[in-house]
Amino acid sequence: MAKLSQLLCIITLSTYSKLAFSLATPPPLPILPLPSYAQLKWQQRELIMFLHFGVNTFTDSEWGTGNESPAIFHPTGLDANQWVDTATKGGVSLMILTAKHHDGFCLWPSKYTDHSVVGSPWKNGHGDVVQELVNAAKARGVDVGLYLSPWDRHDRRYGNTKAYNEYYLAQLQELLNNYGNVREIWFDGAKGSNAPNMSYDFNDWFAMVKELQSTINIFSDAGPGVRWVGNEKGYAGSTCWSTINASSLSIGNGSIVNYLNTGDPKGTDWLPAECDVSIRTGWFWHKSQSPKGVNELLEIYYNSVGRNCLLLLLLNVPPNTTGLISKSDVQRLTEFKSAINTIFSSNLAEKCSVKATSQRGGRNGGFGPENVLDSDHLWTYWAPNDEDKEDHWIEFKATGEPLRFNVVRIQEAIGLGQRIRRHGIYVDGNRVARGTTVGYKRLHRLGSGVVYGYKVRLRIMGSRALPLISSFGLHFDPFWHPNGH
Ligand SMILES: *[C@@H]1O[C@H](CO)[C@@H](O)[C@H](O)[C@H]1NC(C)=O
Ligand SMILES: *[C@@H]1O[C@H](CO)[C@@H](O)[C@H](O)[C@H]1NC(C)=O
Ligand SMILES: *[C@@H]1O[C@H](CO)[C@@H](O)[C@H](O)[C@H]1NC(C)=O
Ligand SMILES: *[C@@H]1O[C@H](CO)[C@@H](O)[C@H](O)[C@H]1NC(C)=O
Repeated sequence: MAKLSQLLCIITLSTYSKLAFSLATPPPLPILPLPSYAQLKWQQRELIMFLHFGVNTFTDSEWGTGNESPAIFHPTGLDANQWVDTATKGGVSLMILTAKHHDGFCLWPSKYTDHSVVGSPWKNGHGDVVQELVNAAKARGVDVGLYLSPWDRHDRRYGNTKAYNEYYLAQLQELLNNYGNVREIWFDGAKGSNAPNMSYDFNDWFAMVKELQSTINIFSDAGPGVRWVGNEKGYAGSTCWSTINASSLSIGNGSIVNYLNTGDPKGTDWLPAECDVSIRTGWFWHKSQSPKGVNELLEIYYNSVGRNCLLLLLLNVPPNTTGLISKSDVQRLTEFKSAINTIFSSNLAEKCSVKATSQRGGRNGGFGPENVLDSDHLWTYWAPNDEDKEDHWIEFKATGEPLRFNVVRIQEAIGLGQRIRRHGIYVDGNRVARGTTVGYKRLHRLGSGVVYGYKVRLRIMGSRALPLISSFGLHFDPFWHPNGH
């Protein structure tokens, strides 16, 4: 009997250990706060297009007075298909339209005011710009977002807190009930210093928005879905946490811009930053202005997307008075997209051999360094071993010729929380870059212009929890001439 039970025990043990050997190690615990599903989808977009269009387009101004006649809104060749085609050429998957700007003129036929397209000669007052964009975007698989200015210089109810909040909420319901899915809604705190004194019921507005659109991201200075980056240059802080204490934020408060810019490693809320900037000087189309050059747009890209921030190229790829995006802007956006493709379509690290200080679960745990070279930038990643100390590294070694590059790309598996506080890049033992946060994507353009070497090491010196690297790239940017030649 004893022998038989011993034998059984041995058989069970060996089956068990065989099984254990082939099973994957579970992922490490997340570190809170985490992004919501909608925030995670949003962060992967990288580029969003903003369209400033309205009466200002026809009066050559940025802030209308509210006294404009709707009759001046007269785009003779408006074609939203051309707007969306421009966006897709630029690799954009979400377009946000100014449904109403500070002048109060509505681009859709709102039931609650006559200060809208209804009073314009365009389509004899039967037009609806929001609907045109929604139709064109839907046909091309592009998502739509809307901007509805809280400050309204036309409506008489403005200044009467109750009456205006009712009016504003009624318009929100029109926009969020009648046009299908809206992926982002943009609230800003802009307000002239001589505007009547009144308060906005943001809590009511946000609750209504979430009730009507479950997967929407709400942008404002203070979230709750996406926060403002604190400037309109399109630059994030060189330290940029997606986490922040939302309770310390308020809309239109100038004293929090630095906090918005960097976020907070101890923040209790996931509220990533969005960088807004115009492709031109102004937000609206002006005959006298032209789009920024490719090098300037790339600089913005490295300082926004490259710093864990979503670049909202408020592509004042603003439609012109014809109702079309100007040729020069279409061309610039296409050049910009092509430059991004040139830089990032090839990754020298893919041809390297890769090793790391350690890996979670050992050789077959599923968390090896090779995961940073696959196409999944979120859910497959290199994780060091739990037992390890603060200092971790992953190294890429050329298998032939030396590596020639000037851009380093690092991505964290943010689905499990943002972790890295401090990191450095070493080439053959010499440090060529260092930084603080990484987040969804961190790009280093190397100051020396170009680097040659055999071994590139990413070293992580500080992290809120085990660092998880989901992707790594070594790229060559031919547009980068740090010494101006
Ligand atoms: C605006 O109204 C608020 C209360 O509604 C008040 O606290 C504030 O002092 C007012 N500001 C001005 C400039 O009148
Ligand atoms: C603006 O932010 C600062 C810093 O968080 C805070 O002390 C102040 O009360 C805020 N002001 C308003 C009007 O919310
Ligand atoms: C944010 O909140 C956390 C938790 O309450 C706190 O530890 C941290 O100090 C706060 N950050 C700031 C800047 O106050
Ligand atoms: C607007 O842009 C379109 C397309 O690029 C162009 O044909 C048209 O002339 C422009 N209109 C104005 C007023 O510049």
